[in-house]
This record gives sequence, structure tokens and C-alpha cells, in this order.
Amino acid sequence: MWQLILPTALVLTAFSGVRAGLQKAVVILDPEWVRVLEEDNVTLRCQGTFSPEDNSTKWFHNQSLISHQDANYFIKSARVNNSGTYRCKTALSTLSDPVQLDVHIGWLLLQTTKWLFQEGDSIQLRCHSWKNKPVNKVTYLHNGKGKKYFHKNSEYCIPKATYNDSGSYFCRGLIGQKNISSASIHISIGDPMSPSSFPPWHQITFCLLIGLLFAIDTMLYFSMQRGLQSSVADYEEPKFHWSKEPQDK
Ligand SMILES: *[C@@H]1O[C@H](CO)[C@@H](O)[C@H](O)[C@H]1NC(C)=O
Ligand SMILES: *[C@@H]1O[C@H](CO)[C@@H](O)[C@H](O)[C@H]1NC(C)=O
Ligand SMILES: *[C@@H]1O[C@H](CO)[C@@H](O)[C@H](O)[C@H]1NC(C)=O
Repeated sequence: MWQLILPTALVLTAFSGVRAGLQKAVVILDPEWVRVLEEDNVTLRCQGTFSPEDNSTKWFHNQSLISHQDANYFIKSARVNNSGTYRCKTALSTLSDPVQLDVHIGWLLLQTTKWLFQEGDSIQLRCHSWKNKPVNKVTYLHNGKGKKYFHKNSEYCIPKATYNDSGSYFCRGLIGQKNISSASIHISIGDPMSPSSFPPWHQITFCLLIGLLFAIDTMLYFSMQRGLQSSVADYEEPKFHWSKEPQDK
């Protein structure tokens, strides 16, 4: 049985080792808007693997290490200088991809949850006011044309984006008696078949590596088995003949 256990353990060890080396931390925004207004509160959460000896998190803002070490980084009352890219890292995961957060000054801001959308994604839009002041008679506009009207402010969701949903968007509404428009943003809808959506090369390499390890291991196992069988056979053959002879008589 040990002939089977040993190679299996080897494959599993190699598997978890390579995996641990490749796992990336992920930065999650909560709430999930990538554009916010000054004085909004935002929590950045680092999802990664922590070790019992070192459960600290490293945070990077625009490439420089910041002093914060908790898995959650709370930005209370955001300022423009909180804009930029954020990355995190834990003891047992590698540096995350950057997440871009932009902090704007203004009365109204059209918020989105991503910077680039793919065909089939749902696009969530929010006409957000400074300090969440009440906004009424809200219109969302696409390429200058009214797309959606809400008497009381609500989020506008495009459930399955197509290429035709690309273009410039803004929202407007009444804050008190004032008719206010947000700045426009451009939304691009990428093609899901574009090269950037293919599986990353390191994942393919990883699968090939595991396949190779498994093949080598299987070969080792069978050659070991054969070696063991032939040595057992060599040893037992004379005994077999010896015990058989008395029966034949
Ligand atoms: C941010 O949180 C504080 C309490 O911690 C709250 O008073 C404030 O209204 C929040 N800001 C916004 C824009 O919701
Ligand atoms: C942003 O600027 C304020 C002063 O206006 C300062 O207190 C704060 O530390 C700065 N924050 C960052 C992340 O640079
Ligand atoms: C705000 O102004 C635009 C023209 O600038 C107008 O078309 C729109 O109806 C106004 N909105 C409201 C709610 O009055």
C-alpha cells in the first residue's frame, strides 16, 4: 500500500506548494463603487490566506506601503488624495491586482462598479449626491438621450450589456430647487473573446506542470511495482515448484 501512498503524497505536496505560491490576494471595495465623492466612507477588504503566525496585511497605495496592517482598510470621509490604486498582500498570498478608486468633488456623481465592462455583464449605475442629500426627478442619459427617469432617486441597472450600451453617460436631477447634472463618464463594453479574457498563461503552465508531475509519478509507481513483482517472483518460484511436486505425486 505504501507504494501508492508515497507518490500520492508527493503529488499532493507539489500541488499545494505550487498553489500556495500562485494564490493572489484580492482587494474588494465595500460599497463596490469605484468612483466616490468627498466625505464618502469606503472600506477596502483584503481577501487572502493568512498564517497563524502572521495575520497582518500589507497595504499599498499608489505603490507605496502604508502603515495600516488590518485586513480591512476603512477610509472615513474620503478626500481627493485618497484616490489612486490599492493593492494588498497577506503572509500566504501574493500581491493582489491593483484596484482603482477615484474621489471626486461635486454635488452629483454617476457611480459605477467597474472601469471596464464585458458583453453580458450587468452595469449598475448610481446617481450619487454629496453627503447623500435627497435628489428627485432623476434622469439617466446615454449619449445625450434620456434612458431612465425616477421620480425618487434609484439605481439604474442594465442587466445584460451589449456593445450598443457603450458610450457616454451622465445623470441629472433636482437637489432642493437646483437642477444639477453630473459629469459624463465613458463606458466601454469589451468583447469577451478578446485576448485579455483568455485564461492567464501562468494557470496553463500550472496545469501542465501538475500533469507532468502526475505522469512522472505514475511511471515511477509502475516501474517500482514491476521491480517489486519481479523480485518477489524470483524469490517465490523455487518455493512454488518445491511445494507443488509432492501434490503431483
Ligand atoms: C461616514 O460615516 C460617518 C460615521 O462614521 C457618518 O457620520 C457619515 O455620514 C458617513 N458619510 C456618508 C457620506 O455617508
Ligand atoms: C490627504 O491630505 C490631508 C490634508 O489635507 C492629510 O491629512 C492626509 O493625511 C492626506 N491623506 C493621504 C492618504 O495622503
Ligand atoms: C434640468 O435641465 C434640463 C435642461 O438643462 C432639462 O431638460 C430638465 O428637464 C431639467 N430637469 C428637471 C428635473 O427640471
